[in-house]
Parts: sequence; C-alpha cells; structure tokens
Amino acid sequence: METMDAIYGRRSARKYLPDPVPPQKIKILVEAGCRAASALNVQDVSFAVVTDRDKISEYGERGKKRTLEERRAAGRMNPAVERILTSERSVIFHRAPALIFLFTSPECYSPVEDASLVAGNIMTAAEDMGLGTCWIGLAQGLNSDKEFRRDLGIPDDRTLRATITVGYPEIRETVPKEKRPPVIHGWI
Ligand SMILES: Cc1cc2nc3c(=O)[nH]c(=O)nc-3n(C[C@H](O)[C@H](O)[C@H](O)COP(=O)(O)O)c2cc1C
Repeated sequence: METMDAIYGRRSARKYLPDPVPPQKIKILVEAGCRAASALNVQDVSFAVVTDRDKISEYGERGKKRTLEERRAAGRMNPAVERILTSERSVIFHRAPALIFLFTSPECYSPVEDASLVAGNIMTAAEDMGLGTCWIGLAQGLNSDKEFRRDLGIPDDRTLRATITVGYPEIRETVPKEKRPPVIHGWI
C-alpha cells in the first residue's frame, strides 16, 4: 500500500474480528512507532502490550472507573464522555484482541508530542498491514492504576501517554471520514 493510501484510508476501528494479532505483527507496529521523530532525539517512548482477553476486559473496566474519577475531580467532564464512563454496557476497548500502551520517561523533552508521533506511526503502519486501530483516551486513568502498572512492570517514572487498540476490523470503512479542509492562516 502506498503511504498516502494508508494515511487517507485509516479510520478508527471500533468493531473487531476475534482473530488474534500475531506477536510478530505487533512487534512490527512497535518498531514502526520507534521510527518517529522525537524532540532532541531523546527516543524514549516505551511500550506495554496486552493480548490476554480477560486482562483487556479487566483493564477496560478499571480504566473507565479511574478516568471517570479523575475527570470528575479535575472538572473535565462532558456529558457524552460521562455517559460512556458510567454505563455498565460500554466497552472502552471495543473488544479488540490487542492493546498497545505508550509511555514516556522524564527524559523526554516533549513527551506528549513524542508519544503522539509514535502513536501516529503505529496507526498508519497498522492500516498498511490491514489492521485496524483506535486511540483510546478514555483509558488514560490507567496511568494511576497501581495494579495495572505492577502487572506490566511499568517503572514509576513512566507516564502513560496513549492507548491503542489493534485488531482485524470486522467492518472496514471504505468511505473516508469527512475531514475538515485545511485552515491555512497565511502562505507568503
Ligand atoms: C487523543 C485521542 C483520544 C481518543 N479517544 C478515543 C476513545 O476513548 N474512544 C474511541 O472510541 N475513540 C477515541 N479516539 C478516536 C477519535 O474519536 C477518532 O480519531 C475521530 O472520531 C476521527 O475518526 P477517524 O479516526 O476514523 O478519522 C481518540 C482519538 C484521539 C486522537
């Protein structure tokens, strides 16, 4: 697939086939992530991978609970998000067979930007490989979940920056999502 096809064809996948993603393919995604640019070339985004279905469900529930608590406490709640986070029926990881978590260390000069570029590479590479992905911001509360961190051996100084579901999409969106045209303020 051409790069532009992958960029234009990528859509967030929220329905997955039950088929597992081979570990080799997950490794390729993580390595594609590591090709991203990083501020001052620090290259210190790290990863955790979960493919155990029970753990994916468990972390989904824990993520919902923590994110809800933290967003309420911070006054960062909107009604649609609150509805998802309080509904017993909502499954924030969309029953994907694999999750990739991205972390940054205190060494990173621009951690949010570095992790976002890694995430972007992973999502574009996945599209190229016929895999679907979705960035799950609603899982952010897992950053402060001690059990989650202990299970995966996440060092204390690492911050969760992105959570990406991965799997074979059950429905492949063939129509590109309507995207706003570029706003270009100036072009001299
Ligand atoms: C930072 C970030 C957080 C997101 N969080 C969620 C989420 O928690 N759940 C979800 O289903 N989609 C989430 N998305 C996916 C967006 O909803 C999606 O990218 C957007 O609707 C555009 O659709 P597209 O990805 O198909 O182009 C997130 C995307 C980003 C960039």
